[in-house]
This record gives sequence, C-alpha cells and structure tokens, in this order.
Amino acid sequence: MSGIEIKNLHKRWATFDAVRDVSFTVAPGTLTVLLGPSGCGKSTTLRLIAGLDAATSGQILIGGRDVTTAPPARRGLAMVFQNYALFPHLSVAENILFGLKVRRVPAAERTRRLRKAADILGLGALLERKPSQLSGGQQQRVALGRAIVAEAPICLMDEPLSNLDAQLRHEMRKEIRSIQQSLNMTMVYVTHDQIEAMSLADQVILMRGGSIEQKAAPVDLYLKPATSFAARFIGTPPMNLIALANGKGGAIVKGSQGPALVEGSGDGLLLGLRPEEIRIEREGIVPATIRSIEYHGADSILECAVGDQLLLVRVEGIRRHTVGDTVRLGWLPEAMHIFDEAQSQRVERKVLVRQAEPALRVAT
Ligand SMILES: Nc1ncnc2c1ncn2[C@@H]1O[C@H](COP(=O)(O)OP(=O)(O)O)[C@@H](O)[C@H]1O
Ligand SMILES: [Mg+2]
Repeated sequence: MSGIEIKNLHKRWATFDAVRDVSFTVAPGTLTVLLGPSGCGKSTTLRLIAGLDAATSGQILIGGRDVTTAPPARRGLAMVFQNYALFPHLSVAENILFGLKVRRVPAAERTRRLRKAADILGLGALLERKPSQLSGGQQQRVALGRAIVAEAPICLMDEPLSNLDAQLRHEMRKEIRSIQQSLNMTMVYVTHDQIEAMSLADQVILMRGGSIEQKAAPVDLYLKPATSFAARFIGTPPMNLIALANGKGGAIVKGSQGPALVEGSGDGLLLGLRPEEIRIEREGIVPATIRSIEYHGADSILECAVGDQLLLVRVEGIRRHTVGDTVRLGWLPEAMHIFDEAQSQRVERKVLVRQAEPALRVAT
C-alpha cells in the first residue's frame, strides 16, 4: 500500500507564492482532506502531488519513492475533478474505460473492472447511456467509476461534489468514504466545505494563504483549534471570539463588570466559546441581554450582549425568551479557548470559572 509524504513543498507563480513550506503525511489507506477558503492553495497542492504542475522546491514521496519530478503517469494515482470532464459522445461504459484503453489494459481485464465499478456505484443499468442522458449525481458516479477502474492505490479528488445539490452531496460523500475504505485507497480530497471535511477525513489539513494553519483529526480540530482562524473556520455558527480586558482578579469580558474568567491580564486576548457550548442558566457565569432571536426549527440562535461584546448562543427548539430579556449564560470550563489576538495563536491560561453544581445547571 502507498502512503504519501510531502516535505517543505513550495510553489511560486511568477512573484506569488501559492503554496508555502507545506509538509504533511498521508498514511496508507487513509483519507486526508485539504480544507480552506477559496484561493488558499488546495488545488495547487493537489496538482503538485499529481504531477500536473512542477514544485518550485520541496519533495513528494509516494510509497516511499521520490516522485517530485516524475510524470503524472508514473505516480500510480487516479484523479477526480470538480468538472467531471466526461466525453459527451462516448457511452458511460466507454467513459469509464477510456483510461484503461489508452493504457492498453487487455479487454477481459477491462470488462472485469467495469463490472466491479458498475456494481459498487450502481451504474449497471446505465452503461449504454450518453452523459447527456444522466443526472448530475449519475455523471459524478461515472467520474468516480473512472478512478475506481484505474485501481490506483492513490486517489486525488478536487471538490468532486461541488456541482451537486445538498442532498446528493451528502449521499455521494458517504459513498466516497465507503468506497475509499472498502478498497483501502489512500485519498487526498480537496474541499472548502468544513462539514464535508469533518465528516470524511481521518486527517484535516486546514490551509490559509498557501500555508498550513493546522493539521489534525476532525475531533481535535474542533476541540482544540490552534489559531483563532481555525476556531472560526470549523463549526456553524462559528465560534464566538470575545474580547477580554483587565478586571478585578483576572481577565473579564470587555466592557463588563466581571467576573474574572481567566487568570492574568486580559489585554489582547480573545475568549473563544462555541454557540452550542453556551447555555442559559439560572446560576450562569455572566449576565447578558438578548438582542435577537433566529428560529431554525430544531434550534434557535440567540444573539446576546455581554459587556460591549456580542455573542451567539444556540439553544434547542423555541425557548420562552424574548428580545430584551436579561439572562445568565453559563458554560463548562473546558469550553473556553483563549487566543492571543495579535498572533491569532492559542494560548494556555488558567481558567477561573468553575462548573456550576449540577442542581444549579437548570436551564431557564
Ligand atoms: N497557473 C497559475 N498561475 C498563476 N497563479 C495561479 C495559478 N494557479 C493558481 N494560481 C493562484 O494560486 C492561488 C491558489 O490557487 P488554488 O490552489 O487554485 O486555490 P484553491 O484551490 O485553494 O481555491 C490563487 O491565488 C490562484 O490565483
Ligand atoms: Mg481549488
């Protein structure tokens, strides 16, 4: 089985550095997602791994072999792109088998692989159709079929689902993950969609401006974001980042009367709290005023003012609160993330709030 090792990869276009000193490892048979906003260098990184563009510096190893300057065909990989690039005049079967024909794979072997791929993807009844006679999801499956019949140990995907509607995206995502696991593929998957990343990945590489912001398993990215950017990029609504200030006994929410939430000076610090970690409680930690309520069905998003800071709170269903109510907000000590505002880095500070007695954690 083939793993991938990327060492200090760099790509410069004229005077612009699209990929800066990127290093990561993809263990054999696992799925790594390159995640980040548009233009952060995800596709460029993937194209360098594929050999479609040449690295300015750095090293790419596949299965322990240095392929940094090897042509794409020598890298043992298959690719699926956002625009599936199916040949309109070829049937589904011909589209799936195109690459194998080019590589002169014998006919009996081609038939065996086509059967297997059609089986996995549920395309058996559609093999004679032309791409124009298929739905978006079916076309996507044909593109996946091509990657499957290649039987390459490594598969690279660049936003393969972005042309599909939300429902179909969800189904295809599950399908890709199950194919990757059952065929034991090593996969690198590019997306800007954090939910797709969180639900698919063994490892997420979060990129920003050509550099890696954080690499971690989804659960660690959520529980311990390394920077304020990572904190805001994962989660819906995003994590609240609340400015702190110096107060009596420690750092307080800026513009509030306290209490002290963390030890030491609050100047230049941000307190991160996820909307889903905050509760409205009788004995909550800070007083707040409800500014607006947005009803979403299963939950509601309340915008609350604490001191001169605004934060979002996610509560289940409809609560009996109205705009203008004064409430108290509580959270568990481990829900607090502290960041240095100027550096945007996570910092460790002693938390002063204590978990309320269970009896007092009654929601109002
Ligand atoms: N062929 C190219 N020539 C010049 N600049 C490029 C080229 N390809 C990409 N870029 C630039 O590199 C940056 C990263 O692009 P890309 O990797 O496609 O981002 P992403 O896939 O994360 O949206 C962008 O600013 C883009 O404009
Ligand atoms: Mg891209």
